[in-house]
Amino acid sequence: MQVIIRNTQDEAVELTAAVIARQLRSKPNSILGLATGRTMEGLYARLVEKHLMDGLDFSLAVTFNLDEYVGLPPKHKNSYRYYMNHHLFNRVNIDSRNTHLPRALSEDPELEGSRYDALIKSYGGIDLQLLSIGESGHIGFNEPLSAMFSRTRVKALTPKTIEQNAPLFDDPSEMPRFAITMGVGTILEARACVMLVTGSNKADIIARAVEGPVTSMISASALQLHPCCTVITDAAAAACLKQQEYYRWIFDNDPQWDPFR
Ligand code: GLP
Repeated sequence: MQVIIRNTQDEAVELTAAVIARQLRSKPNSILGLATGRTMEGLYARLVEKHLMDGLDFSLAVTFNLDEYVGLPPKHKNSYRYYMNHHLFNRVNIDSRNTHLPRALSEDPELEGSRYDALIKSYGGIDLQLLSIGESGHIGFNEPLSAMFSRTRVKALTPKTIEQNAPLFDDPSEMPRFAITMGVGTILEARACVMLVTGSNKADIIARAVEGPVTSMISASALQLHPCCTVITDAAAAACLKQQEYYRWIFDNDPQWDPFR
């Protein structure tokens, strides 16, 4: 795992967008794993800008989102399908048939989980998985005690996640209590992972996920096991990391980061 600290949220977003743009330029038919949430809004806005200003091409890309709320139809303002259409898919030249999310209205959620994993596999797996972290330590909606080898399935959301995401609903009591999410094991199969974490409210949980022990109590800590995972933070989110100086040195000196400085 590598941790890269940029001073501001804008710089962290810019670097993450540059990593995704490089992936798409080097392999236009990339299979991208996508995430939702407030953190991603600025990132998708930046990718849209890159599409409009620099011709970043999504025409051959295929996307798989991490998760979807159980029971929300795609047209519901708070469904992740709606979010993705609004923030990215309707604003770039992606073929909507190549954009996938778990089907939240499936009558058989268990079957839907295995269908989704099989679909990812049929495309040869995910090249680059984008992630953020929830305050419960989740990636996707893998709440505490999610098995490290878990596959796409339904999870009950924790009170902390409900508290974090309910304010996004017009009527907070309408927030679903369940979601279908890629499993931790599904996520770990991506060839590369990039996690974007910004803001002081994430400082404590990201330090525990990155520098603490690997534990199913914090699903994001499983990323320590991934051979190619980069965590990009701003200074506010990095505040509790013990090795900040070392991480900053890496970005400033490792030739791998030359194209991004
Ligand atoms: C939701 C998503 C997670 C995401 C989290 C972060 O819970 N299921 O994949 O990491 O939001 O939310 P935010 O960026 O709003 O803090």
